[in-house]
Amino acid sequence: MVVKELTVSQFRNLERARVEFSPGINILSGANAQGKTNLLEALYVCCTGRSHRTHRDAELIRYGEKEAVISVQVEHQDGIHLIDLGLSSQGRKRVRINHSPARRLGELMGHLNGVLFSPEDLYLVKEGPAWRRRFVDITLSQIKPPYFYVLQQYQQALAQRNALLKTILREGKGAETLPVWEAQLAALGARLMAERQAFTGILSQRVTAIHGELTQGRESLTLRYATLSESREPAELEQALLQALERGRERDLRAGTTLTGPHRDDLILSLGGRDVRSYGSQGQQRTSVLSLKLAELAIMTDMTREAPILLLDDVFSELDTSRRRMLERSIGGVQTLITCVDGERMLMDGSRSVRFMRMEAGRVLPGA
Ligand SMILES: Nc1ncnc2c1ncn2[C@@H]1O[C@H](COP(=O)(O)OP(=O)(O)O)[C@@H](O)[C@H]1O
Ligand SMILES: [Mg+2]
Repeated sequence: MVVKELTVSQFRNLERARVEFSPGINILSGANAQGKTNLLEALYVCCTGRSHRTHRDAELIRYGEKEAVISVQVEHQDGIHLIDLGLSSQGRKRVRINHSPARRLGELMGHLNGVLFSPEDLYLVKEGPAWRRRFVDITLSQIKPPYFYVLQQYQQALAQRNALLKTILREGKGAETLPVWEAQLAALGARLMAERQAFTGILSQRVTAIHGELTQGRESLTLRYATLSESREPAELEQALLQALERGRERDLRAGTTLTGPHRDDLILSLGGRDVRSYGSQGQQRTSVLSLKLAELAIMTDMTREAPILLLDDVFSELDTSRRRMLERSIGGVQTLITCVDGERMLMDGSRSVRFMRMEAGRVLPGA
C-alpha cells in the first residue's frame, strides 16, 4: 500500500500541513523539535488507532485547540482508501472510512498498515514483557482486525474481574460473580494465546533467517512465546487458563488484581540459547531489534499480500553501513518515510524515487 497524501490540522505543532508522498522513499529532515516525529506520528495513529508516544489524545491536539484532524489517502491494490480521523480533547476518536462514519475504532485496522522503527524500540529487548506484548498485539491487530476486537473484549473482562476482586476484598461480597468473568477471560484469553503462539512461530523463523543474514551467520536469534501452556489447541488453552484463574483466586484476592493470563505473557528472545535481555551486548540488542522489525515487515507483507508502509524515526542515520545496506535491500517495494537531522547525508542506491522534504517549525517545505 502507498500513502498518496496526508493532511493534518491542529495536530501537535502542525497547525496545517498537506504532504504528497513518493511511493518510494521519503526523507524528512530538520533540526530538533521542528515536528518531524509529529508528522510520522500522525500516520502511525492512522495505522493503529493510537500514538506510539502517548495514550492520551489530548496531548496530540495543538495547544489551545479543541480538535485535531488527520486525513490520509492510501492506494491499495483495490483502489484508494480514505481515512479521516478526528481527535478531541474530550470524548472518543471519530473515524471515517471512505466518508462513512465507523462505529468502532477497530474498523480502522487494515486500511493503513505500518511498521514503525524508532529509538525507543530498543526497549523491546531491554525492558519488561509489556513492550513485547504490545509489539505482538499491534502487529496482529493490523494483520487480523478480529484479533483487535478480542483483545479489547479481553481487556474489558479483565478490568471487570479486577474491579470485582477489589469489591470482594473491601465489602466481602460478590464472590459468586467471579466464575462468570473467569469463563469469559478464559474463552477470550485462549484465542489471544493461540494467535500469539502461531504468530510467534512464524516470526521466529523469519527473525532467525534475517538475523543470520545481518550477522553473516555468526548469530542465531530465536523467539519463544512464554505463556501458561505450551498447547496450541484453543480448547486446551481455555481449560488451562480457566484452571489457572480458579486456582489463583485466593492469591488474586489478596493482590486485588489478576496475576495470570495472556496479559502477563512474554516473548523471549534468545541468542545462541541465551536471553538477549540479560546477556546481549548493546550491539547485539540493537541488531536484534532491527531483525525483529524487518521480520514484522516481511510477515505483514506475506499475510496481507500488500506491503505496509515503513516509518523510520531517527534510526537510519544511526545504523552502520552493512545494516543500512541490509535495510535498503529489505525495503525494496516498501514505501518508506525516514526522518533525520541532515537529509543530504542520506545516501540511497539511486534506483528508487526519493522525495526530500524539510520540516521547519511545523511547516513542511520542499528540499533537503
Ligand atoms: N500538543 C502540542 N501542541 C503544540 N506543540 C506541540 C504539541 N506536542 C508537542 N509539541 C511540540 O512539538 C515539538 C516536537 O516535535 P517533534 O516532532 O517531536 O520534533 P522532531 O522534529 O525533533 O522530531 C516540540 O517543539 C513540542 O513543543
Ligand atoms: Mg523526532
